[in-house]
This record gives sequence, C-alpha cells and structure tokens, in this order.
Amino acid sequence: MSDAPQEFVVLMQDVAKPVADPSGAGLGRTAFRDAMARLATAVNVVTTQGPDGPAGFTASAVCSVSDAPPTLLVCLNRSASVYSTFKASGSLCVNTLTNAQTRIATLFGGQTPMAERFAAATWSSLATGSPVLEDALVSFDCRIAEIVESGTHDVMFCTVLAVRLRPAGDGLVYFNRRFHTVPGDT
Ligand SMILES: Cc1cc2nc3c(=O)[nH]c(=O)nc-3n(C[C@H](O)[C@H](O)[C@H](O)COP(=O)(O)O)c2cc1C
Repeated sequence: MSDAPQEFVVLMQDVAKPVADPSGAGLGRTAFRDAMARLATAVNVVTTQGPDGPAGFTASAVCSVSDAPPTLLVCLNRSASVYSTFKASGSLCVNTLTNAQTRIATLFGGQTPMAERFAAATWSSLATGSPVLEDALVSFDCRIAEIVESGTHDVMFCTVLAVRLRPAGDGLVYFNRRFHTVPGDT
C-alpha cells in the first residue's frame, strides 16, 4: 500500500430518523452491504435433510455463540428457496469449505437445482442425518434449538451434537466479494 494519505468514506443516517428497515429507510442496504464486504468470513455450505430430499445453501453468516452448550448461529434469508425446508427440519449441518471447494460454494450460492448442487460432491451423515460434506475442513452437525426473526433473515441458534474435523487443509474466506485462500499450518 502507498504512503499517500487515504481518503476514508463516511456514510451516516440522520439519528433523528428511524433505523433502517426493509422499506429502505435509514442507512440503506447498499451502504451496509458495502461495509460488510470488508469483513472476511469463512465460507460454509449448510445442509439439511428434508422430506423431498437434501437441501443446502452457501452461508457466510455463521458464528460461534457459546461453548456450553456448544452453540452456533446461522442466518438464513426467508426468501431463499430452501427456507421452508430448513424451518421445518429441526436440524442442519454446517460444512466449512476448503480453498479447493469454491465450485461447491458457487453451486450452493443460489439458482442451481438442488439435485445438481448435491451431485457435485460426496456426502455422509453423523448424528442428525443432515448431509455431511466429505472433504469439508470441519462439519458441525446440529439440532436447531431456537429461531429468531430479524429483518429479512431468520437467525437459527443451533446446538452442536457432533463435529467432524479434516486432518489438514487450506481455508477459504470471502472478502471484498471474492474468495481467497487462507494457508493452513498443518
Ligand atoms: C459467499 C456467499 C455467502 C452467502 N451467505 C449467505 C448467508 O449467510 N445467508 C443466506 O441466507 N444466504 C447466503 N448466501 C446466498 C445463499 O447461498 C442463496 O440465497 C441460497 O443458495 C438460496 O438460493 P436459491 O433461493 O436460489 O436456492 C450466500 C451466498 C454466497 C455466494
């Protein structure tokens, strides 16, 4: 990076006005999305076993909540095609991708038929029956304990029943709207 002074961009809403809502008032979607693009996140494929077969989507909104009981959260857009399957299922598996799995990330990132998404990889299962991705860096098999609606998304709080850890591998992160490799040290 050069030593020249950097120009920072500040976006701010009028504090007297209501906070942003789905109608677009306040700071606004684009400003928020542009700001969130600066946060590097792991890339996960979240799966479940529905009555009509497996379902899954790519998710960056996955976060640790507590280690007792072991709990993580997953945020799912209520407009996603998989939403009703996850809402009804009661369980899911978070499969964290390696740098060799960008194709899986893209396939599960939307607009691809579910059969095509799952045909692109090998799957097994652990405790709940949710699909476990064969070569994932780590898989968290979970029971959905609580769902909280927030804005456009449901926040699913998940109790982790089993984990499956790959011995080694390079990580994959999403940063500035692109995939990047994080070298593993094992
Ligand atoms: C890198 C990346 C991260 C994503 N993270 C999320 C997320 O955290 N939550 C979410 O609901 N959708 C997320 N999406 C979008 C979903 O994967 C997509 O909406 C989902 O596959 C449903 O698409 P469909 O309605 O076409 O089936 C992400 C997509 C990509 C490519």
